[in-house]
Amino acid sequence: MKRLALALLVVAAISAHAQPPAPATPTTLKDAYSPYLRVGAALNNAQFEERDLLTKDIIAANFNTISPENVLKWEVVQPGVDKYNFDPADKYVAFGEKHHMFIVGHCLVWHSQTPRWVFEDADGKPLTRDALLARMRDHIHTIVGRYKGRIQGWDVVNEAIADDGSMRQSNWYKIIGDDFIAKAFEYAHEADPAAELYYNDYSLENEAKRKGALALVKKLKAAGIPINGVGLQGHMKIDRPTPAVEAQTIEDFAALGVRVNISELDIDVLPRTSVLDSADVSATAKGDSNSNPYKDGLPEEMQQRLAQRYAEFFQVFLEHSNQMGRITLWGVDDGHTWLNNFPTRGRTNHPLLWDRQGKPKPAFFAVLKTAIDWKAAHRGPATSTTPRPTGIELVKTLTKPKGFRAPMEKDFGGYLLVYFKDQTQAAYLAASKDGYTFTDINDGQPIFLGAELAEQKGVRDPHITRGPDGAFYLAMTDLHIFGQRAGIFKTPFQRPVEECGWGNNRALVLMKSYDLIHWSHSDFRVDTAFPALGNICTAWAPETIYDPAKKKMMVYFTMRYGPKGSDVYYAYTDPAFTRLETKPELLAHTDGADGDITPFHGKYELYFVSDAKIRHGVSSTLTGGYQMDPQRIDPEKVSTEAPTTFKRLGTDKYVLMYDVYGARPSNMGFSETTDFQQFTNLGRFNEGVMKTTNFTSPKHGAVTYLTAAELKAIADHWHVPLQ
Ligand code: XIL
Repeated sequence: MKRLALALLVVAAISAHAQPPAPATPTTLKDAYSPYLRVGAALNNAQFEERDLLTKDIIAANFNTISPENVLKWEVVQPGVDKYNFDPADKYVAFGEKHHMFIVGHCLVWHSQTPRWVFEDADGKPLTRDALLARMRDHIHTIVGRYKGRIQGWDVVNEAIADDGSMRQSNWYKIIGDDFIAKAFEYAHEADPAAELYYNDYSLENEAKRKGALALVKKLKAAGIPINGVGLQGHMKIDRPTPAVEAQTIEDFAALGVRVNISELDIDVLPRTSVLDSADVSATAKGDSNSNPYKDGLPEEMQQRLAQRYAEFFQVFLEHSNQMGRITLWGVDDGHTWLNNFPTRGRTNHPLLWDRQGKPKPAFFAVLKTAIDWKAAHRGPATSTTPRPTGIELVKTLTKPKGFRAPMEKDFGGYLLVYFKDQTQAAYLAASKDGYTFTDINDGQPIFLGAELAEQKGVRDPHITRGPDGAFYLAMTDLHIFGQRAGIFKTPFQRPVEECGWGNNRALVLMKSYDLIHWSHSDFRVDTAFPALGNICTAWAPETIYDPAKKKMMVYFTMRYGPKGSDVYYAYTDPAFTRLETKPELLAHTDGADGDITPFHGKYELYFVSDAKIRHGVSSTLTGGYQMDPQRIDPEKVSTEAPTTFKRLGTDKYVLMYDVYGARPSNMGFSETTDFQQFTNLGRFNEGVMKTTNFTSPKHGAVTYLTAAELKAIADHWHVPLQ
């Protein structure tokens, strides 16, 4: 009896553990919108120096991204040819780091708040094109270089398009010409290759101007210019644009393969003359007796109108959150907004979410409620800071479910893609019925969290396959590439880069499952398990394959001794897939990484990466004897890696998939073959027949196969419609 009670208690404890307590309703913007959108604000000096006590707590609690209202504009940060003023910007960045915020830089190249001398030589004569380009490069390199790895996104060019969609006749344009924009992006990318780079402008909702900006972004992308995103400034009026137009604008830009941010959101409640419809900072107007109607406060009816407008916009942003990154308000409280002085000086505007006393306005509560309602309708109960649950469970020992039978090729009715993202150091799953259109099964949220599965708190390079037992075998690299920034290590990597190269991680994450929900897990240190290997610097990119000769699952992966050069090695695993049982042996001299093997007509086709290009070798034995081809296999011009293949079920076609990490934003590329000799280029995701419905920029992926019943089971479990 006692035993039974104890057993019941244990069961109760376990199920209490499995069922987390109902999360509290979020009360701050960043919690309410996490993990779908970052929410931020532009800060003035008093705010980031924490002298402004009115907004100090508001900022810390509500925002996870910030923009500098003025301190990174040219006139402030470089007031003279050889004169830089970094102090305010240093403080701005330090504030963002202290609060773990995504830090934006605004803005490198703009016609406004840029001193006249920038465009003139020492005698006051206009600079030549070359001299102005050199000055621009110097400015960008100095500023972006100073905050490299700390400022995560830059407005590279601000407001280069005129209201009619033509190029704005700025000094930049007049002296340098059309390509000043491309040059600015190139310079910024040189200075910090990891930073996100944006084109930023106002009134992109207006058709003529939008057309001009879309053409510009298209041209930049086609020329391979590293642009990641577009900032819609979002200086709204109380009655325009409509939410529908806003939605269309976001979609139009996202369709070009750039992320869309709202970079300077506010809603002007004061009357405007039609001439002054824009956010052109050079536009000014004289006030008259009717132009400042809300000197003594915003009437209740207007408060409600403003709240409704904000709610409608945030609804649109949530609906497009897969294409967006962040929503940044241009200011915090109504007492400190540029709209008190623009376009008419000295008025009393009310465009933000907190009033002049620092009290949240009805608009604040409306924005909060929009996220809470949206989460309840779309993703189950509102959570505070916890992202959408991963939907998987780690188990100590994996048991084969009753009645489970290993499917044969004829039983398969769909595809499963595993991929990862740098932003989350986590891996994801996407499914497809036809092998062309893939839907992330957790709606673009992680399933395999590096924080839980890896010693470095990051996972990369996931590979999935099925064994002859029908189980799913998932192998991943244990590595966090932002470990220092995340406070996990003191140095960029565990050991010095000069000695051991990039990454220098040595554990492989091994997981096995029969149903994709219950997973066994092991984090296996290759170096300590096999001291005979000597001082390996790095072990990564594991893949699994069944070796029919040995009747065992085999893991093959890349190893590097010293800082450079690497080859592919193999070892056999235990049946439970928790460890390598045999000492890793050389599989092929690749002088490269990411080996992937496909058995085909009695041979083994090996793809791998070397010199950022996909290469190929072939052998009649699995574990050696590969004959290498000299040429690049993939059709891309930019860097590629991580080749894997999958078969188009019911046909004789195979797809070779690779990570086009040189693309901006990065993407996956595909080529099709029937003989592993001739390939047809299918292009990248969302540029041809291969499509994603609810995620972008997957990295380093692999595909395996599912039965129709398995597809249905995951669709039900993760509540995802798989068309
Ligand atoms: C504004 C600032 O808020 C003011 O403090 C400053 O006096 C002028 O500039 N579009 C932009 C921002 O890209 O940089 C502008 O910021 C607002 C319009």
